Amino acid sequence: MFPWSRTVIWAMILSGLYCISTPRSGFAQSANEQLVEDSDRSKRMFIASCGRCHGIEGKGGTGPRLDRPILQYAPDDEALVRIIRSGIGGTGMPGNWFLDESNARMIASHVRSLGRGKTVTLSGSPEKGKAVFEKGDCRTCHIIQGKGISLGPELTKIGLRRGPEFLRKAVQHPGLDLPLDRRGFKEFLVIRVVTEDGREVRGVRINEDTFTLQLLDVDKQHHSFRKHELRAVHKEGNESLMPSYEDAFSPEDINDLIAYLASLRGE
Ligand code: HEC
Ligand code: HEC
Repeated sequence: MFPWSRTVIWAMILSGLYCISTPRSGFAQSANEQLVEDSDRSKRMFIASCGRCHGIEGKGGTGPRLDRPILQYAPDDEALVRIIRSGIGGTGMPGNWFLDESNARMIASHVRSLGRGKTVTLSGSPEKGKAVFEKGDCRTCHIIQGKGISLGPELTKIGLRRGPEFLRKAVQHPGLDLPLDRRGFKEFLVIRVVTEDGREVRGVRINEDTFTLQLLDVDKQHHSFRKHELRAVHKEGNESLMPSYEDAFSPEDINDLIAYLASLRGE
């Protein structure tokens, strides 16, 4: 290869990149066109970085819906930009270290546009849903405002953490979408073990390391095992200790229950 050819190739690549990154730059562009282009771009960035958890239209998924006029963690735009870049510590909301300040601002402006002029209404009634919740004995496995037993996740702020579609799935098809912890392991994974003397124990994984495994069973009994003493270990990928309520409740009851869960914001 000639000594200058590499430089030439680099120059071509770089000028190509420049063209891609500034598709319609030019002096003739009006301020209005610029605005439309910015808003398209911020929408695309939102979809790419946030869509898989908050939904491409911001209607919620594993993350809460963002098309709300008031966001608890982000009372103002500065707070919103901070959350977008650094995440919310100790929760499933990750930081986006690869976004610089100006990109984070563009995404923030898109998030605000989602909430403008919107009051989110769900078809169900939260008051009736509370009665369904009590009827369903959900507190035998969930804590709300300090009351209940913790086999499943605490629900005190579930309306902030999860969108309505996710909540519906959680109630109708538990286990389909197990949350991941910060190391990327499935939380509340159901494991069935067979001990050396042939006893079977089934429960959610509380802790696991190379040598030991701790389970919590439906009766809220803790079990601790040394792995080398177990005859078999079955991880039940998409199972949950939570029963499905799809058939136990009428569709109206489920709508009310979802409205109630979505209203739980820790107040
Ligand atoms: C891996 C999933 C995931 C991704 C990706 C993600 N989020 Fe989140 N986000 C969450 C979860 C879960 C929460 C709820 C945290 C909690 O309260 O437990 C959350 C919370 C938030 C909140 C706070 C909502 C409130 O009511 O105050 C905002 C704002 C937010 N996310 C914006 C974004 C934006 C913007 C992006 C893209 C740059 C993004 N998130 C990417 C999962 C995600
Ligand atoms: C036998 C125990 C048990 C009962 C009863 C139970 N749950 Fe659960 N629930 C769990 C477990 C374990 C999980 C975590 C695994 C999963 O997502 O399926 C869970 C998860 C959830 C989630 C998802 C939470 C999140 O952060 O992802 C919601 C919402 C929920 N339950 C609501 C309810 C409601 C409403 C009821 C009553 C109608 C109820 N549960 C009854 C054990 C239970």
